[in-house]
Amino acid sequence: MTATVIPLPTTARRRRRPRPPDVTVRELGDGELDVLDAVFAGLSPRSRALRFHGATPRLTPGVRRALAAVDGHTHLAVAAFAPDGTPIGIARLVGLDAHHAELAVEVVDAWQGRGVGRRLLLAVATRGRAAGYDRLVADVLTENTGMRVLLASVLPVVDVVTNGPETTLTASLRAAETTTAA
Ligand SMILES: CC(C)(COP(=O)(O)OP(=O)(O)OC[C@H]1O[C@@H](n2cnc3c(N)ncnc32)[C@H](O)[C@@H]1OP(=O)(O)O)[C@@H](O)C(=O)NCCC(=O)NCCS
Repeated sequence: MTATVIPLPTTARRRRRPRPPDVTVRELGDGELDVLDAVFAGLSPRSRALRFHGATPRLTPGVRRALAAVDGHTHLAVAAFAPDGTPIGIARLVGLDAHHAELAVEVVDAWQGRGVGRRLLLAVATRGRAAGYDRLVADVLTENTGMRVLLASVLPVVDVVTNGPETTLTASLRAAETTTAA
């Protein structure tokens, strides 16, 4: 009997890494610069460029302060921690108006591909809903397949606008709204 060879789908991309269950996620408090710094330190130059849309060898004091200045409503963030307490990722929302909040997520390279980004996104979406937002807006580099796939796998993406190297994705926080784009 001849074996049938089924080719892997061309979308096969990366090996899924083990997902330890004991990563914890909690809301970030105001002024937790140590968490911010630890996560930034764990991002490779490539991850920093994807997150900040350009080479970012360090955070300026002003940006660092602004990223740590959460208030739980117009600027809220959740952070993930490894079993030993090391900060490994942050997802944040910054209110654009009463209904829309801008989304940003980062996971340190050593922990990417283990479900941390998904957990952070789910947690920040829950917080965003509770804070009254209807939609999340993510400005991503068009080449950032990981973030695009992650967002579409967690929330219905209702609008995609690509302008050269930048793409703006809008995702709904309302369960009834269905996906129209990805
Ligand atoms: C994008 C990022 C947040 C994803 O975090 P992560 O912890 O690696 O993602 P997860 O392991 O939770 O992946 C969840 C799902 O997202 C999708 N995904 C994540 N990375 C992907 C990639 N590189 N290619 C395709 N899909 C990807 C998959 O559907 C994945 O599910 P699966 O592993 O079951 O297939 C992370 O890679 C990162 O911090 N990148 C640098 C900063 C950045 O790009 N931030 C976004 C700009 S705001």
